[in-house]
Amino acid sequence: MAERYGNIIGWGKYVPERVVTNADFEKMLDTSDEWIVTRTGIHERRHASQDENTSQMSTAAARDALEIAGVRPKDLDLIIVATSTPDHLTPPVSSQVQHMLGAGNVGAFTLVTGCTGFVYALATAQQFIASGTADNVLVVGAELISRFVDWEDRATCVLFGDGAGAVVVQATDEPSGVLSFVLGSDGSGAEHLILPAGGAAIPVSHEVLVKGQHYLQMNGREVFKFATRVLGKSLRQAIAEAGLTSKDIDLIVPHQANIRIIESAARKAKLPMEKVFVNIQKYGNTSAASIPIALCEALEEGRAKVGDTLAFVSFGAGLTWASAIVKLAERKQPVRKRKWQFPILKWFSRNGVVEEEEAKEEQGVPVN
Ligand code: COA
Repeated sequence: MAERYGNIIGWGKYVPERVVTNADFEKMLDTSDEWIVTRTGIHERRHASQDENTSQMSTAAARDALEIAGVRPKDLDLIIVATSTPDHLTPPVSSQVQHMLGAGNVGAFTLVTGCTGFVYALATAQQFIASGTADNVLVVGAELISRFVDWEDRATCVLFGDGAGAVVVQATDEPSGVLSFVLGSDGSGAEHLILPAGGAAIPVSHEVLVKGQHYLQMNGREVFKFATRVLGKSLRQAIAEAGLTSKDIDLIVPHQANIRIIESAARKAKLPMEKVFVNIQKYGNTSAASIPIALCEALEEGRAKVGDTLAFVSFGAGLTWASAIVKLAERKQPVRKRKWQFPILKWFSRNGVVEEEEAKEEQGVPVN
């Protein structure tokens, strides 16, 4: 039986229309365009309007990805949405996306690992495909952070932006998709990037609102040190685990958090900046959405193309880190092991046992 790989065959992005420039922040805060640009590389970011939310942005990005893939929502076997800023704490936003897309009643879940969410989700999708349990997986990274930042905290609010990116991953026997990945976490640094209240530990209360504990809090210096420590290392590890060297990487698509952090990772992996895709100047840090949005633009601009070997590298709350080496292969007829591997067994298990039991349940007959 041939190996199964998860090739990325579709990509899409959605960014809100509203552009917020550094000059806009100069009017509200004690900050300057010069400070923001030299410390972060950010010139502007997008902010969602009041009637936009995470599920809508995810669905819009997913629709574009499905269209490019030529995959109908009904053909999806699994939906993973990576986000730390869902519409609600519960229900999971992934089920909203499934419903809004008109996908079947397939498994859908939300994955929360901060800014590394998309790479974690992509590695997860690859496992479902490799094991033969899914042929078409939708992976979304979406974030609406502007609703969670303190507009008086100049050290955080200027950094973040809203948006969503999505890919469709399809089973193929061509070595492609995630060739290797490195996932890591270090919860000892939790307090460096945290939204303290609103969860079970500190439920929302009047005191929480007064103290502003419902806003994202960040120790920028500590996060910066952590990022420069782990990024280059995890990138080098992922390249080695794929059996490749830096020379084999056509383009790095990094998490867009800070241009200085990106430059440090490239330096440590001995890759020139010409091989790094950067769009932080336009969108700021869109957390779990940043890599799929950047991938989408790299493909649209011809910086990445089918046949290329890409490196995704990210870090974020947790603290977490995640890198992956991803091959974009020529699209082939999808492998459909799941549908025909044991046709008689499938027919029997689905149409026989399940339907018989469902009929009994509907009639109120106890089912063992
Ligand atoms: N405008 C002007 N001054 C600002 C400012 C702003 N928007 N934000 C902070 N400052 C000030 C600070 O208050 C500090 O002033 P002080 O020395 O009087 O206390 C000064 O600038 C320097 O702050 P510092 O934190 O040393 O700056 P920095 O060079 O570390 O840059 C960050 C700050 C936030 C840009 C940087 O630490 C960073 O990018 N960290 C990583 C954050 C990140 O990526 N988070 C997301 C993870 S997914």
